[in-house]
Amino acid sequence: TPDIKPLVVGNWKMNGDRSMLDQLALTARGLDDDLSERVDVALCPPATLTYVTTTLVEDTNLLVGAQNCHAQEKGAHTGDISAEMIADCEAEFCIVGHSERRTEHGESDATIRAKVEACWRAELTAIVCIGETETQYDAGEAEAVLGRQLMESVPDGANENTTVIAYEPVWAIGTGKTPSPDDVANIHAFLRDRLVERFGGPGERMAILYGGSVKPDNAAELMSVVNVDGALVGGASLKAQDFLAICEVY
Ligand code: G3P
Repeated sequence: TPDIKPLVVGNWKMNGDRSMLDQLALTARGLDDDLSERVDVALCPPATLTYVTTTLVEDTNLLVGAQNCHAQEKGAHTGDISAEMIADCEAEFCIVGHSERRTEHGESDATIRAKVEACWRAELTAIVCIGETETQYDAGEAEAVLGRQLMESVPDGANENTTVIAYEPVWAIGTGKTPSPDDVANIHAFLRDRLVERFGGPGERMAILYGGSVKPDNAAELMSVVNVDGALVGGASLKAQDFLAICEVY
């Protein structure tokens, strides 16, 4: 399998005001050239901070993303933000289809697919989230659910430059629970097979991140699993020290 440069992404969710910009600056400063050679690191603060963030980290190795976008470029969609607007803020990534958006905003796979296409249109790299619920996991349905989400949320023509996959078991998000390394290995191998089947070479090179209660003390174990190409980090990305400790497992 080809070498995939690892990617660690912090998702601040609905946390963060201007007083947290010092944590952001600390994270950026901690990312020296050596570390950045080994791992790409991005932070996704709330949209209110996108532009000030890209301005602040302009001369550093820290990359910036958003947490969601609308599928259309502009128009009568009060309160929404387009992928073009995110790109205009000089961000490079956008998380799409996070389970919190699937649940709280009823986003379907079709909606998410349209948003991924919007990201591509605006030249943002889409970080497409998929994940099974605890009920689905207990019922042995994880692979069926993930296979479907992967098929339906990711548009045709995806490649390693435009698209990153993030596997986040819903029951592991913010709970302190994680699947065992063996479980993660099985799921990521399953996802890799599906990606290669569908996309060929690009499917071999697309990064598959693991997300859900990644912390400094479990990151090394989770990140060393085959086919885990990085992490999508929630809570532990809010503190520069914790987030950097996760990046430093690489
Ligand atoms: O998108 C990342 C997230 O859902 C995982 O959150 O707090 O469990 O790391 P957390």
